[in-house]
Amino acid sequence: MGVGVSLSPLASAVAREGGLGIVSSACLDRLLSKRTGKKHNTYEAAYEEVALAKAAGGYAGINIMGALVHDFNDSVRGALDAGADAIISGAGLPLTLPAIQPSKDTALIPIVSSTRALDIICKKWEKLSYRPDAVVLEGPLAGGHLGFKKDQIDLESNTLENLFPPIKEMAKKYGDFPIIVAGGIYTYEDIVKFMKMGADGVQMGTRFLATTESSASESYKQAVLNAKEEDIVVAHDPGSPCGLPFRVIRQSPMYVSAIKKLRPPKCDKGYVLLKDSAGNFTLCPAKASNEHHFCICNGLLSSADYNPDKEEPLYTVGTNAYRVDKIVSVESLLKELTGDEA
Ligand SMILES: Cc1cc2nc3c(=O)[nH]c(=O)nc-3n(C[C@H](O)[C@H](O)[C@H](O)COP(=O)(O)O)c2cc1C
Repeated sequence: MGVGVSLSPLASAVAREGGLGIVSSACLDRLLSKRTGKKHNTYEAAYEEVALAKAAGGYAGINIMGALVHDFNDSVRGALDAGADAIISGAGLPLTLPAIQPSKDTALIPIVSSTRALDIICKKWEKLSYRPDAVVLEGPLAGGHLGFKKDQIDLESNTLENLFPPIKEMAKKYGDFPIIVAGGIYTYEDIVKFMKMGADGVQMGTRFLATTESSASESYKQAVLNAKEEDIVVAHDPGSPCGLPFRVIRQSPMYVSAIKKLRPPKCDKGYVLLKDSAGNFTLCPAKASNEHHFCICNGLLSSADYNPDKEEPLYTVGTNAYRVDKIVSVESLLKELTGDEA
């Protein structure tokens, strides 16, 4: 979970308890530089955070979003050199991922929300002589950016249950790699249900957001505890500068300002950029106007306590966040989720 929610404290706790702990690469250079008081570049930040996540034992890897165009390759190299057990990559199709550097023992795992996306990735990766080591199928109930157009989020055909069977077929066609399902999975029973359907694993975000080890700010965790079902909305217009729908708690200060058009246009971080007319990634739509986009980098950094005095926070969650009613440790959460409660 980016920005700055899943860092080494959360990932290493998950790894220690037998899960695959995943740090987020988003804005990691800034977050690590603030933590250590020294300047770190993107490569160093990915290397360092993965190494720390793995230090206490168990399996740990990193999520690197395709939308972070300028940082993508350096994050991949840093994670590979640090011996990440997995690189999980979505928010854009990670078509070049296997070509950046040989991956040795690191599993390369794309995130998709449709068979079409998986087909494109597999075809492209075949040309690079690489088959995905697994795929994350993320349905429309997830937190963060969604891989669906706004009007497709609620379609019955797009529930995770309905998306799963064709993805399973396609994975078989390209070499029968494992499928990890994500989005709205909340209980041990949910996990069992998807495993019985043929899933090989689950990826969970929201349940780990309000854990002791999560690096979300205290006000973010409190906002999750206070959220009611109707408070969890999909921000679209105004929305994320990358154009994908983005799920938020509607009381998030930055979202409230964005709705009221109170926030001056701004982009001084530039992690999420779109192509200009010359085909170079230089444009952030939140810079020119506050009409349709909010400043996601600053909002999410603020939610991870990076710049809380200067910027309003933006709280992203999955649809089930309203069910979270207390802050728990990763140890107790994983006991619950593996059906191992006392
Ligand atoms: C706070 C938060 C931040 C997230 N950040 C990212 C991210 O940076 N990259 C990404 O690929 N997915 C991100 N996601 C999606 C999760 O990785 C996960 O697939 C999804 O939330 C699963 O659904 P759940 O939250 O219902 O468990 C985020 C989710 C949350 C809740």
